[in-house]
Formats: sequence, C-alpha cells, structure tokens
Amino acid sequence: MRSVKVSLGARSYEIKIASGGLAGLGGDCAALKLGQKCAVITDTNVNSRYAKPALASLKRAGFAPVLITVPAGETAKRLKQAESCFNQLAEHRLERKSFIVALGGGVVGDLAGFVAASYLRGIPFVQVPTTLLAQVDSSVGGKTGVNLAAGKNLVGAFYQPRLVLCDLSTFRTLPEREFRAGLAEVIKYGIIYDAELFAFLERALPKILRRDTTALAHIVARSCEIKADVVSQDETEGGLRAILNYGHTIGHAIEAITAYGRYLHGEAISIGQVAASHLSADLLGLPASEVARIRALFVAAGLPVSIKLNPTQRAKLLAAMTLDKKVSAGEIKFVLAERIGKVVWGQKVPAPAVHRALDLVSGSNPEP
Ligand code: NAD
Ligand code: GLY
Repeated sequence: MRSVKVSLGARSYEIKIASGGLAGLGGDCAALKLGQKCAVITDTNVNSRYAKPALASLKRAGFAPVLITVPAGETAKRLKQAESCFNQLAEHRLERKSFIVALGGGVVGDLAGFVAASYLRGIPFVQVPTTLLAQVDSSVGGKTGVNLAAGKNLVGAFYQPRLVLCDLSTFRTLPEREFRAGLAEVIKYGIIYDAELFAFLERALPKILRRDTTALAHIVARSCEIKADVVSQDETEGGLRAILNYGHTIGHAIEAITAYGRYLHGEAISIGQVAASHLSADLLGLPASEVARIRALFVAAGLPVSIKLNPTQRAKLLAAMTLDKKVSAGEIKFVLAERIGKVVWGQKVPAPAVHRALDLVSGSNPEP
C-alpha cells in the first residue's frame, strides 16, 4: 500500500493507494471515527461493478449505508441531480455526523463532494475514485461542484475529503478510451513539476498501457504526491495551484465548442497541452526538442494532438477561452513551460501568439 498525505492543518488527509483497497473501505471509515449512517453516491456504470463490495465492506465495519445512484456521464453534474441527492439524504435521515462516500469517476466525486459540502452546511465525505483521471486528479484537492448551462464547474465549493481511497484494481473494468484520457493528466504532472516522471512515462508507457500494477501504483502515487504538494501550498488557487491548469485554457474551450460531446476532458487537454507547449516555445523559449517530446508522448498514449478548426470554430474557441474561470479582469492568463518539469503561471499571451499555436495544432491527426 502506498500512502500520500495532503497537508492542510486540521483538514489534512491521507490518500491510500493499493490494489484491492475497496475491501478495506469500512475499516478505513471506522478508523476515521465517522458517524454510523452513510450514503454511497455512485453512477449507474460503477454501481453494477463496485457498489456491492463497497456496501459489504461498510456493513462489515458496522455502518448502515444507503445507496444513491445517479446517471453515468457529465450530465449528472448538475443542480437538479444535487437536489435529488439532498432529498434522498434527508429521506434517509442522514445527519451532521453521517458521511458520504463518493464511489466513481470525477463526475461522481465532484457531485458527491458538492452535496457533502452543502447538505446540513457540510458533512464529511470520502473519495473512492474509480477512473485514472479521478485517482490522479479530481479526488484530491477539494474542488467540488456542478455545471451550469453557462459553463462547467460554475457552482461549487472547496471542500476537502476525509480520505481518498484509490483501488488500482478498479482499472480492470475501465474502458480503454477513459484510461488513456486519464493519462493526459499524468503527463501534465510530468510537464509542470517532474521531468523524471515525464521520462518514466516515456520509458514505461507500454507497461502502463498494459495496466501493469507496479507501473500504475507509481504513476498514481507520484501524481498524487505532486497534487498534494501543490494543494498544500495553495489550497484555493491564489497562485501556484494554477499550474495544474496547464493546457486547460485551450482544452476547456475545445470541450465547450464541441458541446462536451466529442472529446473526453483528457483528450481535450491533450490538444490543449500541445498547443500550450507551442505557445511556450514561442514566448518562453521552450526548446523545440522538448515540444517534440511532449507531442510524441501524447501521440504514443493514443491521445489527440490536433484539431481541425474552420474560421467560425476558431472564433468560437477564442470566445470560449474568455469565458473560462481562469480569466481575471478580462485577461486570459496561461500556464507556460520553460522546460519539461518547470512551468510559470499567470502569463499574458497576445492573441496573435494564440493564433500561431492554433495553426500548429490544426493538423490532420485522427480524431477520436
Ligand atoms: P466520469 O466520472 O464520467 O467517468 C468516466 C466513465 O467511466 C463514466 O461512464 C463512468 O461511469 C465510468 N466508470 C468510472 N469508473 C469505472 C470503472 N472502474 N470501470 C468501468 N467504468 C467506470 O469521468 P472522469 O474522467 O473520471 O471525470 C471527469 C470529471 O472530473 C469532469 O466532470 C471534470 O470536470 C472533473 N474533474 C474535476 C477535477 C477536480 O479537481 N475536482 C479535476 C479534473 C476533472
Ligand atoms: N484539476 C485542477 C485543480 O484541482 O486545481
């Protein structure tokens, strides 16, 4: 078992990483002295695979869990779904000492975390992430929330879980496309923080794609360490935490103009990170050889690195970028790389440079 600590004073918590960790969920919750009643929030896909062992483990430890199942997919991350969860929690008389278990990918984690942050003005919650993206990113750091018609994640709270339990064996059932999309966030940690992790990914990619448990344990643990380190220094994104958004300004805009239906988040930020690398070469002198390594790693991971945009779509993309949460006083700020392993945030980027970067990712790669 690997363990990573997120250090946030009284709100510190542990990330446990192991194959088969789900069986210990009840015992882990008991050790935290959480109240007797709890609700497991999951989605329809994860329910059929992992709800039974999760509920069994909680019951063995003396808890009385109720199960709340939401539809699978991004559309569950909305206020109406949160309201339905609140009503079910109230019907089952969950009280202040009760707790919530978020069992699923980032959608379930963000929704259930938001529900936990708001119900009775906040009850404890535990993250049990079951996608690669959720284990390396969304379950750690306390960003919770739902989407509005106007955009993604526009309503939410910073609310930290009491524990993150990453069971690597849940990847056995994860669809290939979802797995590869999660790798985009792992590659991001290499670019923003850790050249050695980036080199490991270059070397070990075939093993990782075969879902070798040892390689997976390493990339999940190292990603969590990096995120924990960043979040411990800047929980509410006053500065440093922005580096986690490398490639996300263009990536989120790609998701928005394609109505969140064509690309998975990891796929969109793969293109976004390659575009940000071109911008970094243009504005900060990131060596061409490093841009080439970044692009090659995304390609090897089976992720898209280009997008065809006609002039109308390009104009929409630029407009979407100005709606992103990372816009401050009307200015889009980018995270740019000086070299693999070192980035700077808060970089103003002139519009012509964005166009040059978009030209460079407007190739003809196969689209997902
Ligand atoms: P997801 O939660 O939609 O899961 C992807 C799909 O895989 C779903 O269909 C789900 O039912 C299924 N699934 C989950 N685990 C499975 C398993 N083990 N086996 C088989 N199927 C499984 O998507 P995601 O990529 O995990 O998360 C994306 C969400 O995370 C987005 O809403 C994004 O905004 C959010 N996010 C949040 C943060 C944060 O810091 N809070 C960071 C990054 C992304
Ligand atoms: N996924 C970006 C963050 O947690 O800040």
